[in-house]
Amino acid sequence: MHIAVTGGSGRLGRSVVAGLREAGHHVTSIDRTESQRPGDITADLTDPSRTAEIFEELQPEAVIHLAAIAVPFTAPERTIFDVNTGMGFSVLEAAVSAGTPRILVASSPTVLGYGRPGWHPGRLPLDERIEPQPFHAYALSKVTLEKMVSTFALAHPQVRLAAFRPCYVIAPEEWRGAPTQQGHTVEERLVKPELAAVSLFNYLDARDAADFVLAWLEAEAAPSGACYFAAAVDALSITPPAQLLPKYLPEIADLSDQLSADSSLFSIEAARRDLGWAPTRSWRNQLPAETLERLGAAAPVAAADRSTP
Ligand SMILES: NC(=O)c1ccc[n+]([C@@H]2O[C@H](COP(=O)([O-])OP(=O)(O)OC[C@H]3O[C@@H](n4cnc5c(N)ncnc54)[C@H](O)[C@@H]3O)[C@@H](O)[C@H]2O)c1
Repeated sequence: MHIAVTGGSGRLGRSVVAGLREAGHHVTSIDRTESQRPGDITADLTDPSRTAEIFEELQPEAVIHLAAIAVPFTAPERTIFDVNTGMGFSVLEAAVSAGTPRILVASSPTVLGYGRPGWHPGRLPLDERIEPQPFHAYALSKVTLEKMVSTFALAHPQVRLAAFRPCYVIAPEEWRGAPTQQGHTVEERLVKPELAAVSLFNYLDARDAADFVLAWLEAEAAPSGACYFAAAVDALSITPPAQLLPKYLPEIADLSDQLSADSSLFSIEAARRDLGWAPTRSWRNQLPAETLERLGAAAPVAAADRSTP
């Protein structure tokens, strides 16, 4: 399949492009940051006519839209909202007019609104039926993108669309000590639970995200307009998160008994059901042995093995 990936130079995009290529697809990345890969396109996708021109020329069989201002509060609120929603609409419009039959868009778990004092989701684990409560421009831009996806799905029944909410993405080099998106290492996030508590101890290996994209592409019968969480099956914490809530997330500690063992606060049942996807990577089977030893963690166990129903 010829697949266009927007944002293919980014933390998530690099692994998605590599994973799709390894699976035998022909991939063109479009990013305003130049890549070293021949054939990739350098362009600013906030320009709607340039975006339309690129998709008309490429005629891709699938579009994976990852490009965005990817971190809350890293630009003025209006800029984040305008760039993410404007670029999203341009990409959807251009892809549909070029006849693209499959379009997948990156949203974010932050749409739920955690991090705001007083936030309470009502139940755990968190799934796609929990009402988003965005409280900043980044989360609002992602809710708007999800709405665009469902709107385009209704307007264009010949196109299969979906949004997915990847949890805190860990790129392969970050297991070996490279800084994660917020600047700390994975080891630091495990040693100091307050660092991972702000994202509810969620995470996802970027290669599992690539596998999610492949699973969605292959699931031709999956419903159009859907939205999926994509998370590791366990939490990014040494102590089971249920035991950490009273200290680090006291406002939702009343929900602790709704979590089992060290399972994630996020449910991936919808992706499992519709796409047959489950992640295979966990901090327990990806961190080098010496790091695990330092952490005093139990012998690494494949998280996916433990979670298979
Ligand atoms: N990293 C995470 O933990 C995480 C979590 C949830 C959702 N997401 C979403 O996943 C997607 C990818 O995130 P990431 O971590 O790889 O971010 P990133 O910042 O590493 O990559 C984003 C890429 O988009 C490109 N881009 C930005 N504006 C552009 C424009 N106007 N035109 C063309 N390209 C542009 C950037 O150059 C960059 O390469 C984003 O949509 C982000 O919101 C990421």
